[in-house]
Amino acid sequence: PKVRRKKEFICTISDDRGDEATYAGYPISSVATPETGFGIGDVISLLWFKKRYPKWATDYLETVIKTVADHGPAVSGAHNAKVTARAGKDVISSLVTGLLTIGPRFGGAIDDAAKYFKYANDRGMSPAEFIDYMKKEGKTISGIGHRIKSVRNPDLRVSGLKKYAAEHFPSTPLLDFALEVEKLTTSKKDNLILNVDGTIGILMVDMWRALGYSEEEIDGFIEAGALNAFFVVGRSIGFIGHILDEKRLGMPMYRHPTDDILYNVELADEI
Ligand code: ACO
Ligand code: LMR
Repeated sequence: PKVRRKKEFICTISDDRGDEATYAGYPISSVATPETGFGIGDVISLLWFKKRYPKWATDYLETVIKTVADHGPAVSGAHNAKVTARAGKDVISSLVTGLLTIGPRFGGAIDDAAKYFKYANDRGMSPAEFIDYMKKEGKTISGIGHRIKSVRNPDLRVSGLKKYAAEHFPSTPLLDFALEVEKLTTSKKDNLILNVDGTIGILMVDMWRALGYSEEEIDGFIEAGALNAFFVVGRSIGFIGHILDEKRLGMPMYRHPTDDILYNVELADEI
């Protein structure tokens, strides 16, 4: 009898054994050539989700990537990338230090926003019940709040994403729910807006539902971290821009001014 050798790895997204490698069955040349009209959104839908999405959906994925590509030099990740580049490190090292700041407060609240808003909506919670639920759980609401954007200084990236969805999505039930939640949070504090992370994640759920995915499949994407990955891909473009900027400007090593640090050191007790 034939004894099959146990395979160490399984791959279900690409295949490099023929003359030309494929992305979910599509030869790279057919994806890369401008004639066939595949964009970065198509490459992502093939390699991340193993499906070809309709144009309104791939255009949404591309809108997200373009929208999050940069938000100036002051944000956590760009700051880290700039400091690292100025310490003489290479592009990859500097990029990685920027990416490592992406998490629950900065850029990486997308999966949890999708998760908790979906959880509440699936269970028929009202916006007020959801806010109460998160409070009782001792959790800040992922996707709500911004350091500098507020009702009076709206985040035009969010307006752009909402406009795209209004014009191209069949419907946006989870966004509609999130906007009701936002009404309550902003009535408490002006900056507790539905932020760019929240809008992206919530609209992604609306997109997947409209594409016919099951709730289990959507939960699986969220659990895997697929949504934060959009911020990682998009913001890498900006971080690399900041790193190249540092190199172009030949900036010296950075040292934080000591007058901007509150030194409060006491003599350690002996034990
Ligand atoms: N849910 C509930 N309450 C909140 C939230 C929230 N998401 N955000 C802030 N608050 C409350 C705080 O509990 C605090 O209340 P208190 O004054 O009674 O103590 C008050 O608002 C101010 O909180 P800060 O942490 O000082 O707010 P700050 O403006 O510094 O925080 C931040 C901004 C970090 C974005 C915060 O709103 C947050 O953690 N949001 C959730 C995570 C998130 O969505 N991050 C993505 C932001 S967009 C991006 O990075 C691309
Ligand atoms: C960002 O996109 O980096 C932000 O929304 C965070 C910020 O404080 O600007």
